[in-house]
Amino acid sequence: MTDDDLIAAARKATENSYSPYSNFAVGSALRFADGSVVTGTNIENASYGLALCAETVAVSKAMADGIRGGLEAVAVTGPGDEPITPCGRCRQVLNELAQLGGTDPLILCVGSQEVHRVKLSELLPQAFGPASLV
Ligand code: THU
Repeated sequence: MTDDDLIAAARKATENSYSPYSNFAVGSALRFADGSVVTGTNIENASYGLALCAETVAVSKAMADGIRGGLEAVAVTGPGDEPITPCGRCRQVLNELAQLGGTDPLILCVGSQEVHRVKLSELLPQAFGPASLV
């Protein structure tokens, strides 16, 4: 599974986006150390503030299937030209799964012309996570 394959998986996931309010379909694909991939897409709600982001849906799917670590890379795609970066809440949600497995995943923020590659620790420095709790 190359980075391009991961980006294609994230784009494919947007086919199931439920985003009638924003018309902003976001896709996410998580790649794990064993090669497995879990995708997500944004799910909105008539109560607008309850929207679930693509990355949060993907992490929830993975954790509900028992995955607790090994997160190596995350692709995020959106409909705009600019590379899309995970929102603050999604950074925290991604950090939980990453810290559980002791990884610092590469985040592929995908735009129409370029892919911005950044580590999660750069997007969320000095993160609060499971290791922070005593
Ligand atoms: N959205 C995501 O799915 N991920 C992000 O990181 C940013 C925003 C979604 C939420 C909402 O459904 C739509 O994009 C517009 O904000």
